Amino acid sequence: MKVTVVGAGAVGASCAEYIAMKNFCSEVVLVDIKEGFAEGKAMDLMQTASLNGFDTKITGTTGDYSKTAGSHVAVITSGIPRKPGMTREELIGINAGIVKEVTENLVKNSPEVIIIVVSNPMDTMAYLVHKTSGLPKHKIIGMGGALDSARFKYRLAEALESPISDVDGMVIAAHSDTGMLPLLSKATRNGIPVTEFLSDEQQKYVIEETKVGGATLTKLLGTSAWYAPGAAVSVMVQAIACDQKKMIPCSLMLEGEYGQNDICLGVPAIIGANGVEKIVNVTLTADEQLKFSEAANAVREVNGDLKF
Ligand code: NAI
Repeated sequence: MKVTVVGAGAVGASCAEYIAMKNFCSEVVLVDIKEGFAEGKAMDLMQTASLNGFDTKITGTTGDYSKTAGSHVAVITSGIPRKPGMTREELIGINAGIVKEVTENLVKNSPEVIIIVVSNPMDTMAYLVHKTSGLPKHKIIGMGGALDSARFKYRLAEALESPISDVDGMVIAAHSDTGMLPLLSKATRNGIPVTEFLSDEQQKYVIEETKVGGATLTKLLGTSAWYAPGAAVSVMVQAIACDQKKMIPCSLMLEGEYGQNDICLGVPAIIGANGVEKIVNVTLTADEQLKFSEAANAVREVNGDLKF
């Protein structure tokens, strides 16, 4: 299977690295606009192949999309990341133009491609890809929930003083500091609701730290994170490549699900060879349903700034 990753920066390179390391793809093509950058990252990564034991072939190109032809999956990470103190929504002005142009080039060369959208503000960028690509909706998947859920589990394990493999939990709604919805009511430790172990104060801590998970890292790093985003993308690509039918929260176009229409928002879905195989309907509490609707309203407002 051939995968294209557009943007060979921090997140794009991390995606390529994790995908290659897991050895389930024959080829990864990195694309960047910066002269020689994707070629350099590809060469550096290829020189880890004998050390790390993978056979995936990684190549790079400066904007020659003919090299991406026949990709099964393409990951869009091109664009600017946020700096400390910025919201993801502030990136729309620059990133919308980049994502639109990249999408057109990808689809022209790989009409059957499944696109995973990473660039921020991600829910709005996924919506933009739906409106401009002409691809069926099951082939456009926004990456946010996989990462936010991993951050949720990290905070749950920390609060529970438990191994991460013992905890399960999911984050849905928007990929934004305010619109993220960690589903504490459904989170478990070895099948037992975490609410039985955590005090109200601990529950509040876990939710708040999950929501600002990206911002915390941006403050520490001076730019946004890349290891966990790359790993989250690799899990999604593997679910498609290996037809795993794995349940992953992703930003998807909703047509009535969760009471929303004409918007991309994070919901749990079964991801397999066709991309989105099915959206899963989880019963939300009244408070969660309200928060989901509020997140939708905020994303809709950002979507209003798009020019097609
Ligand atoms: P970065 O600055 O390290 O890399 C971005 C790359 O995109 C650069 O190498 C740049 O040259 C390239 N680029 C810009 N315009 C391009 C074009 N037209 N065609 C091809 N390449 C182009 O940024 P980083 O840290 O990799 O972040 C990338 C994006 O991913 C940002 O928008 C960031 O906010 C987002 N992000 C999203 C996450 C999510 O969960 N959805 C998580 C982390 C980052």
